[in-house]
Amino acid sequence: MEFVIRPTQADVSSTVADIVEGYVCGGPTTLGLATGSSPLGSYRELARRHRESGLDFSNARAFLLDEYVGLPKSHDQSYFSVIRSEFVDHVNLDPERVLSPDGEAADIAAEGARFDAAIREAGGIDVQLLGIGSDGHIGFNEPGSSLNSRTRVKTLTEQTRLDNARFFDTVDDVPHHVITQGLGTIGEARHLVMIAFGEGKAEAIAAAAEGPLSAFCPASVIQLHQHVTVVIDEAAATRLQLVDYYRYALDNKPPWQAF
Ligand code: F6R
Repeated sequence: MEFVIRPTQADVSSTVADIVEGYVCGGPTTLGLATGSSPLGSYRELARRHRESGLDFSNARAFLLDEYVGLPKSHDQSYFSVIRSEFVDHVNLDPERVLSPDGEAADIAAEGARFDAAIREAGGIDVQLLGIGSDGHIGFNEPGSSLNSRTRVKTLTEQTRLDNARFFDTVDDVPHHVITQGLGTIGEARHLVMIAFGEGKAEAIAAAAEGPLSAFCPASVIQLHQHVTVVIDEAAATRLQLVDYYRYALDNKPPWQAF
């Protein structure tokens, strides 16, 4: 696991954009996209690079982490819509090749297996962007999620519904159920990039990276992965015990070693 602690949110977004750009420029690639506020700056930076320097997404495809159950795709807060309005509409990534779990599927119980099969058929995800919830969730795998879970329907905690109420008119409008890539599904992506800003995420980042491997903190599953980059600002790094070592390791990174 590698930590990249940057002074500002803009620096974090720029580092994440560098990582994604490396994949996009390296040939056909499959991106794993998160929604929520954490990756937004990275999406804006990638859109800027597309606009100003011609960064080309025509060889990329993408899968989303999760979707609300029962929210129509046309709703402005469905993740189907959000990823288009925040990112896909601003680059030359074919919207037909941006797939998300279908929260309106007639057979919602079977939708997770269908989605996992689609990821497999695409050859898997090269780089998966992840935010982290204040309770340690990734995707919408709330505490108690099996560390080997597959894409399936989950019930949001009241804390997550409150956290996400800022995107809706009232908390009552936040759906109770979601369909999310499982922790096992996420773990199959070849590179995980976790993004976090602010003191409100400091405890969750410390628990994920330095706490026990536990379903109580679903994000701790990243400890089992062989290629993880945690890109955070100073405020999100304040609870890390080994922060000095992480900075030292980054400062002394061998020149040949990419992220
Ligand atoms: C969103 C997702 C969630 C968010 C998490 C953090 O697709 O999977 O895990 O990443 O809730 O949300 P923000 O970034 O809004 O703090």
